[in-house]
Amino acid sequence: MNIVSSKRELSEIINDLKVEGKSIGFVPTMGALHEGHLSLMKRSNSDNDVTVVSVFVNPTQFNNPNDYSKYPRIIEEDIAKLKSVKCDILFTPTKEEMYPEEDNREFDFGNLERVMEGKHRPGHFRGVALIVSKLFEAVNPHKAYFGEKDFQQLAIINRLNEKENYGIEIVPCPIIREKDGLAMSSRNMLLSKEQRENVSLISKTLSKSLEQSKNKTVQELKDWVISEINVNKYLDVEYFDVVDIKTLESACDWMNKNNLIGCIAVHVGSIRLIDNIRFYS
Ligand code: PAF
Repeated sequence: MNIVSSKRELSEIINDLKVEGKSIGFVPTMGALHEGHLSLMKRSNSDNDVTVVSVFVNPTQFNNPNDYSKYPRIIEEDIAKLKSVKCDILFTPTKEEMYPEEDNREFDFGNLERVMEGKHRPGHFRGVALIVSKLFEAVNPHKAYFGEKDFQQLAIINRLNEKENYGIEIVPCPIIREKDGLAMSSRNMLLSKEQRENVSLISKTLSKSLEQSKNKTVQELKDWVISEINVNKYLDVEYFDVVDIKTLESACDWMNKNNLIGCIAVHVGSIRLIDNIRFYS
């Protein structure tokens, strides 16, 4: 595995590989890798000749400085995991490399950035768009892989890709879950033993909501999900909404049920977890 920290060196290596006719798959991450990330790399390996992974904890997407400082950074463990799945190039830039000067660009993602995560984490998606655009320009891959746990992020990145004409194929990959249903996330490793024992209620309630949706209105279902989770003293729902998979607009009824997704954010002490569930008729 080639470990590179300069954008210029990375672009040169990738250009040479492209001249040789190699296809390039890219998996951007913030490290603290888990099976969810590894599933994206495995998918990239099976689709492409070369897999590039970036590990960079992007300061501009954290609206809460405490969350940024606490975000797990375990690069040696990450490197061991990357070697176990085959990563050809690891890009680990410094903050100065990615932000040599202040980047004042603004993006307009319309409703996609105004709801759910966008509403509760002001500036978050601007930060994601800043870093993903820089990474896409440095790597210039044929395909890029993103997990569906961050469903709204995926919608924003698809829009960014269209707006900036990158021409990259964005490949959505399914959520990978722990045995008890908890969606895999780098933040899970910050949970205490007691918190960890309680958080599976989030995914269990989302699963049950499929059955509940057959005899409840959308509003009744939203209230039900929130109250089922909030009974647990470790959990505090920030939002649960049922939205259209393309526009992310809130649904008023179950018409077009196959295009609806339920998205949730839950505070567990100072840790914030997200998850989602697709509905079907
Ligand atoms: O999903 C993530 O880990 C991050 O938001 C991303 C896409 C790597 C940008 O920093």
